[in-house]
Amino acid sequence: MNTEWIRTPQRAAKLLQQGKLVAFPTETVFGLGARADDARAIQNLFVAKGRPENNPLIVHLANVDDWSLAARTLTESARVLLREFAPGPLTVVLPKAKAICHSVTAGLDTVGLRIPSCEHARAVLRLSQVPIAAPSANFSGRPSCTTWAAVLEDLEGRIDGVFCENSSQIGLESTVVDCTGDTPVLLRTGAISLEDLQRAIPNARALEPSESSGAGQKSPGLTHPHYQPRAMVKVFEPSITSENQSLHRSLLSAFEALAADQLAICSLAGSGGAELVREISDARLVRVFPDAAEYAKGLYEFLREADRRDAKGILCELPPAVGIGIAVRDRLQRAAQR
Ligand code: TXA
Ligand code: MG
Repeated sequence: MNTEWIRTPQRAAKLLQQGKLVAFPTETVFGLGARADDARAIQNLFVAKGRPENNPLIVHLANVDDWSLAARTLTESARVLLREFAPGPLTVVLPKAKAICHSVTAGLDTVGLRIPSCEHARAVLRLSQVPIAAPSANFSGRPSCTTWAAVLEDLEGRIDGVFCENSSQIGLESTVVDCTGDTPVLLRTGAISLEDLQRAIPNARALEPSESSGAGQKSPGLTHPHYQPRAMVKVFEPSITSENQSLHRSLLSAFEALAADQLAICSLAGSGGAELVREISDARLVRVFPDAAEYAKGLYEFLREADRRDAKGILCELPPAVGIGIAVRDRLQRAAQR
């Protein structure tokens, strides 16, 4: 299959309407779109991504007012959160409307719904005139894509087109909130933090560890491998470096067989990690992010760049657990999980 380089939202929407697979930018990461009412298109999407079929997809709409195209009811908590945070990096889980294919929701009776704020995405969605299911546009298990070049790296020849605009201002996937019950439950962290949610709905809560695994799990996608580059990732806390000079050695011992020039390392400016970066000055790839927001924005490209340069090990400093730093930590810890 030839993957078309698409330059206009009109062309992207036309292909989507025909049941084709088209990647498009959003303010979070690139999405791989397909009609949410077309079982064959959705089947092709799972195959193109190599995605496990029990991991449900998010349905994207151009406007909040169109919610009934994807959801059966708009719960009070969803209404409040959408009023506060949509369009934007928020996904609300609601009872599913009939028109959405079962394969989109992996057989669940609920659907994730998102209204992106990115103008390119909204134009594509508006012109498509149908709900569009769009998981992140990476090969399953790999880091998400924040550039169209990265999308091609993973999916060239496997999808029909990619809309060639970059606009991932946030860089991490949306915050996912289950709004089907009495209290909203945070399923995936993102730029909108639990504290932000609680400012709008004080009893919003995080997922308990017992709810994220086993038969009753609320979000099946949480258990699959995610965000992993080819090279092994190790994460470290900033505090340890400033307290403990031997951290350098203990961290590097995890990559014992590797020379410094086979490593990639990233950290936050002004932290203990930045010191470590100075020590490993001959690393193959070094990135010091000025703040947590820039870390979020640049993380996936950093991981992918490490692969492009054939680094053998990747060291990443965990940012402090506040604001978007919480979501960066979550993605890093999953990237390091194997
Ligand atoms: O920012 C984003 O959300 C991006 C852009 C493209 O919009 N999309 C994205 O999709 O990250 P994906 O497929 O990579 O992640 C979807 C997440 C998974 O963790 C999945 O389990 C969860 O949303 N999800 C989707 N539908 C759900 C549902 N009905 N119930 C619970 N979790 C759901
Ligand atoms: Mg994903």
